Amino acid sequence: RPDGPILGIESSCDDTAAAVVRDGREVLSSIVRSQIEEHSAFGGVVPEVAGRSHLDHIIAVVDRALDDAGVGLDDLRAIAVTTRPGLIGSLLVGLSAAKGLAFGRGLPIVPVHHIEAHAYAGTMELDEDPYPCVALVVSGGHTALYRMEGHARMECLARTLDDAAGEAFDKVASLLGLPYPGGPSIAALAPEGNPKAIQFPRYRAKPERPSFSFSGLKTAVLYHLRGQNALNPTPAPEDIADRADVAASFQEAAVDALVKPTIQAARDQGVQTILVVGGVARNERLRAKLSEAAEAAGLRAVYPAPTYCTDNAAMIAGLGHHLLEAHGPADLELDASAR
Ligand code: KG4
Ligand code: ZN
Repeated sequence: RPDGPILGIESSCDDTAAAVVRDGREVLSSIVRSQIEEHSAFGGVVPEVAGRSHLDHIIAVVDRALDDAGVGLDDLRAIAVTTRPGLIGSLLVGLSAAKGLAFGRGLPIVPVHHIEAHAYAGTMELDEDPYPCVALVVSGGHTALYRMEGHARMECLARTLDDAAGEAFDKVASLLGLPYPGGPSIAALAPEGNPKAIQFPRYRAKPERPSFSFSGLKTAVLYHLRGQNALNPTPAPEDIADRADVAASFQEAAVDALVKPTIQAARDQGVQTILVVGGVARNERLRAKLSEAAEAAGLRAVYPAPTYCTDNAAMIAGLGHHLLEAHGPADLELDASAR
């Protein structure tokens, strides 16, 4: 149906998601099945567990998305699916489901880049298009800056050289004995501590090339906990006297490491607007500091609703619409890629 909505399928990490979206914007349904409970015992996402869980749930999630939208497969215009980047075993589950449905019903299929879809998600609820803008995509799996000229026109400006910011929150939380996912746990504890108690290092990118890095910060937290002696054992969480100070000081350093390159990139690019998306975009301290720095630089930071910050398939179906308009469908041989 050329005028029908698009079914989006997302399975790149630990959320099994499907959504039905019309014209890139009108969300008819959006179902997200989180695997947090299945991974929480491990303190992080276990790839094999994730892949198998996607396989168990993908059909039910797609069915529910279609039901909630009140449409059948034959009402669709196309199927958009995340093909990269992500956990390869997880991606292949969503892609195989999408290929099966597309082949079975003769529907066009559209491959979508997960991080670009996060950036696009930032525009879905805005009254006006923000282009040109810079998008900071900051989550458990990615930390990247994009220049966006239009819905399907984006260019990656910078990415993390090592860990994603959310991953650093998760790892530090686990060192402190806080529950997974670590971002909300650290954000909840931080207000009880002093953000200036410990001067954790801030990664400095070359001025001409913005980039991010979080592994040095993570190691600095570990060394702090070990009393600056790598040979000491990591103390048990209940033996860490300054947990709240560590949480507050770590959060401050992580936020600074995000704010500086983002403002710099927006200035270099000569844009007015910064979109902030991804799970870490929920962090209140990040919002406060980024908005303040943006205002000081004469820029505007925009934060979309939390529903579209975290992994979902509405953003896949949404961007899929514009990709289909711009480039047409892919053929059924398309493959997934971890990178
Ligand atoms: O976008 P998301 O749900 O999944 C992907 O990684 O794609 O992001 C999850 C990440 C986790 O690392 C989580 O700890 C982090 O976002 N997060 C936060 C906060 N809420 C979630 N990090 C810092 N502060 C928060 N309030
Ligand atoms: Zn994501």
